Amino acid sequence: MASRKLSKLAAASLALAGLLGSPAIAQSPTYGVGRTPTAEELRRMDISISHTGDELPAGNGNAKEGAQLYVQKACVGCHGVTGLGGMAPQLRSKLAPELPVWKKERILPLRSPYATVVWDYINRGMPLGLEGTLTPNEVYSLTAYLLFLNNVIPEDMVLNRENLPKVKMPIGDEFGKPHDYKRNSPRLEGYPY
Ligand code: HEC
Repeated sequence: MASRKLSKLAAASLALAGLLGSPAIAQSPTYGVGRTPTAEELRRMDISISHTGDELPAGNGNAKEGAQLYVQKACVGCHGVTGLGGMAPQLRSKLAPELPVWKKERILPLRSPYATVVWDYINRGMPLGLEGTLTPNEVYSLTAYLLFLNNVIPEDMVLNRENLPKVKMPIGDEFGKPHDYKRNSPRLEGYPY
């Protein structure tokens, strides 16, 4: 009796293993949680902008419009007037424009290797607490304003999807240059460890 039960069990588990191994079953919903996202949901999530700027939306903006938006959208409340003196990180270098960029502060609109990264950051993460509420034109304008504040572009330059990827950032080709490392010495010049 016991052995018959056991062999039934073995047969059942073999059948189950066979079922699980079959690709048709593996692809069907197994756990009953989640669902396929809709095209609209995917569109809203698919916001990454690469350095080539291929994914940038149409639109444009300049630093003058950006300066107004900087106040209207309350960037000023966290980052301070013209990017200085707020509780959040400073957005403008206080140091002389002629200093080499590696001697300046670590500020995104200054140290970023590509201007598209600045656009992507503002579009994705700012204003903090109201992320995703800025229109493409507003993001172009705010990007232009912050790049202008850091002497990267002239005040009257109108940024759009064609010229933003071509903006020459001050970091040039100096980004991430390896250096000689000696054990127990700082990893980068000026770093505490
Ligand atoms: C509620 C406060 C708040 C508001 C409002 C806000 N920010 Fe920020 N922002 C922050 C904080 C905090 C950080 C740093 C986040 C981190 O490092 O993780 C930051 C980071 C940034 C950075 C990157 C700074 C760097 O050098 O790494 C940029 C650029 C920026 N904000 C732009 C804006 C713009 C443009 C607006 C307005 C549309 C805005 N922020 C509104 C709090 C705020």
